[in-house]
Amino acid sequence: MRRFLIAGNWKMNCGPSDAAGLLEGLKEQKSEVSEDVDVLVCPPYVSLSMSVNYLHDTDIQVGAQNLHFEDNGAFTGEVSASMLTEAGCAYVIIGHSERRQYFGETDESVNKKTHKAIDHNLGPVVCVGESLEQRKEGIHFDLVKDQVTAAFDGINEVDALDVVIAYEPIWAIGTGETASPEQAQEMHAHIRSVLSDLYDEDTSEGVRILYGGSMKPGNAEELLGQKDVDGGLIGGASLDAESFAQIITIAEKLS
Ligand code: PGA
Repeated sequence: MRRFLIAGNWKMNCGPSDAAGLLEGLKEQKSEVSEDVDVLVCPPYVSLSMSVNYLHDTDIQVGAQNLHFEDNGAFTGEVSASMLTEAGCAYVIIGHSERRQYFGETDESVNKKTHKAIDHNLGPVVCVGESLEQRKEGIHFDLVKDQVTAAFDGINEVDALDVVIAYEPIWAIGTGETASPEQAQEMHAHIRSVLSDLYDEDTSEGVRILYGGSMKPGNAEELLGQKDVDGGLIGGASLDAESFAQIITIAEKLS
């Protein structure tokens, strides 16, 4: 059985002092996490180091929300993979729909970033997902297939196992609207079959596929209970220590 990964995407929230408060609350709510569940928080860059220090006596890992695909150089405002590992990050979110929508992220840059993360032992959490219009047009399966295929281009089957995919239907992000468990399962199974075509059955079974989009304590059990849902990428509810802790507890129960 795949291990659940419960990941909090804080987006542009929580500078160092707010981060300390949120992590304090999380440690109070969840002093111990079961060995069967991986927990990750992804604060903004400026709060990464303090979060790593703050969580050093826990099993909660820290990830970034983006990286640049070059090693260093004249890229004002950017942060490289080696800087993230030096800051203590274990994972990095790549190609979130907000980055694709507002910051020109493309399938090609997502692929370059995925390679770079792997080269630096950072677990890439690659986001894919369709807009409401694309779903209405009925092109969502093809679109997600193209996103997944592009992200894994040139990645061998051993490294592929370290990639985490987050299926995040754009229409469910921050809207309170959630994909039904059936819609989530249907797309996750589709992603697994795309991976099986790209690699093989074992690899497709080994890659973790998270669901993201208004996951909260009230719907987490149903979503995480789906056969091909291996965790969650949680935005809004991860900013509330109690809600995030409750989702972790649900994952522990289902493990
Ligand atoms: P949400 O965000 O849980 O607030 O919908 C999820 C995400 O964008 O990663």
